[in-house]
Amino acid sequence: MKKSAITLVTLAISLSLASAGDATKKIMKELHKPEDAICKKVGRGEATDADLATLLKAYEDMSGDTPAKGAKSIWMEKCQALISAIKKVQAKDASGTSDFKKAVNCKACHDMFKGK
Ligand code: HEC
Repeated sequence: MKKSAITLVTLAISLSLASAGDATKKIMKELHKPEDAICKKVGRGEATDADLATLLKAYEDMSGDTPAKGAKSIWMEKCQALISAIKKVQAKDASGTSDFKKAVNCKACHDMFKGK
């Protein structure tokens, strides 16, 4: 009885480790990297409502990820900054776009959280 409980806990931990970073990776490849990436459209003020909804959902998923390195609490703050910037853009708040450009700084975030 006790042993199987421990096995279950071990299994749960290894499953959650296996999925750590998956959402982030996908978001980077699909929404950040491409020439016509949605994140670039936001910077140019060209994102549609659907684009913004996609990004918002993506950053919410990303905040649940644990990055390869760096402090989880700061990671959550970075993701939160992206989320609030997108919400401002959605609300047509003029400062949303500049907030987003600051928050989406590729290098600043990679230096802190991206592993090798
Ligand atoms: C909020 C933090 C954050 C921001 C902002 C960010 N990245 Fe990332 N990025 C990461 C992390 C963390 C990884 C490592 C993901 C992993 O391998 O698990 C990563 C990985 C990547 C990868 C490699 C994906 C792969 O195939 O493994 C690319 C490409 C990338 N980012 C592009 C970008 C670009 C372009 C920008 C700016 C427009 C950007 N990122 C902004 C956190 C960020």
